Amino acid sequence: MMSKLKIAIIGIGSISGSHLNAYHSNSKCQLWAVCDLNKKRASDAAEKFNIPHVYTDYRELLSNPEIDAISICTWNNSHAEISIAALEAGKRVLCEKPLCKTVAEALLVEEAVRRTGGLLMIGYVRRHASSIEVLKKFIDAGELGEIYYAKASLLRRLGNPGGWFSDKERSGGGPLIDIGVHVIDLCWYLMGRPKVQSVKGHTYHKLGNRSNIENFNFYQAADYDANHNTVEDIANALITFENGASLMVDVSFSLHAQQNSSLINIYGDKGGAEIEPQLSIVTERHNTILNIEPQISHPGFEFASSFQHEIDHFVNCCLGTESPISPIEDGVEMIKILNAIYQSAEDGREIQFK
Ligand SMILES: NC(=O)c1ccc[n+]([C@@H]2O[C@H](COP(=O)([O-])OP(=O)(O)OC[C@H]3O[C@@H](n4cnc5c(N)ncnc54)[C@H](O)[C@@H]3O)[C@@H](O)[C@H]2O)c1
Repeated sequence: MMSKLKIAIIGIGSISGSHLNAYHSNSKCQLWAVCDLNKKRASDAAEKFNIPHVYTDYRELLSNPEIDAISICTWNNSHAEISIAALEAGKRVLCEKPLCKTVAEALLVEEAVRRTGGLLMIGYVRRHASSIEVLKKFIDAGELGEIYYAKASLLRRLGNPGGWFSDKERSGGGPLIDIGVHVIDLCWYLMGRPKVQSVKGHTYHKLGNRSNIENFNFYQAADYDANHNTVEDIANALITFENGASLMVDVSFSLHAQQNSSLINIYGDKGGAEIEPQLSIVTERHNTILNIEPQISHPGFEFASSFQHEIDHFVNCCLGTESPISPIEDGVEMIKILNAIYQSAEDGREIQFK
């Protein structure tokens, strides 16, 4: 019998639970090690999932030759450093989004992938939702035609989680790099990864983290500190592609909106798709407009099954039976786009890509 792939997870905070559950449910691998700066967090997970090795220093974990592959679930500021060290140690890497904070870091990770010939996949979990896997089949069969416009909006009226999320040093930014990355990537992926021509963006720091709000609960990170917030409340951008297509996006942590809202739409010359809150494909036949509602168990974005698909895909990539649908290039391109939006906002001008 073939031995199971040995998996380690670095960073045992909120999102690690989704990785732990999904690896635990995959019969081709076994959880072999966990690592967190906070030893208790790592030990608790090890106990729950019967994981034999616990570390507080990721370098020690990487020197364990038994480990085949790792998930990086740490704050954004350590993604690049850990990815490079892991590739150099011969481990396969699933790195949570975003790949890292800056373009310079992204290029170093890309160089490490090339130099080591290793495997690195970015955790763009939304690509793995069943609704997206279904939609991709329609797109690949040409049923939406040429996708020339997309629009994505994830607005939280009171949703700055604080902690490392609101510390630009550790996160690289606010809602744009945290939730914007998901929807910009998703639209770009469904549009066929077109080359970016230019980016124009705005960011606003008007309301702060709204820690003044009473009688209304919102999610707060473990190390929430109402006094520390160095990230934007809201970002918007218009991304124009070389093929003439465009993508409009806005995302917020704080906004005077009546409700939280989410919308992800793509429009082609033969059909369109509305992805949130659930997939609907729109087209026209015999001079009649059709709204098609695919009948799938999870017609919207469902966390657990999407993570299971992502982890199953990563495990198969490690075993050589599949190739990553989100390779390093897609991580680098997204960091270029996010950084260009921040740069455009700061300089008050459009940023041209070459
Ligand atoms: N795919 C998704 O939908 C999704 C959702 C949430 C978070 N994320 C991403 O996952 C990552 C973690 O987010 P989170 O919400 O779990 O944060 P978190 O703060 O809950 O957990 C992060 C953990 O990493 C540990 N850590 C930080 N630096 C470390 C290091 N150098 N070595 C070892 N441990 C370290 C911290 O002690 C903490 O326990 C972020 O990059 C975030 O963008 C992805």
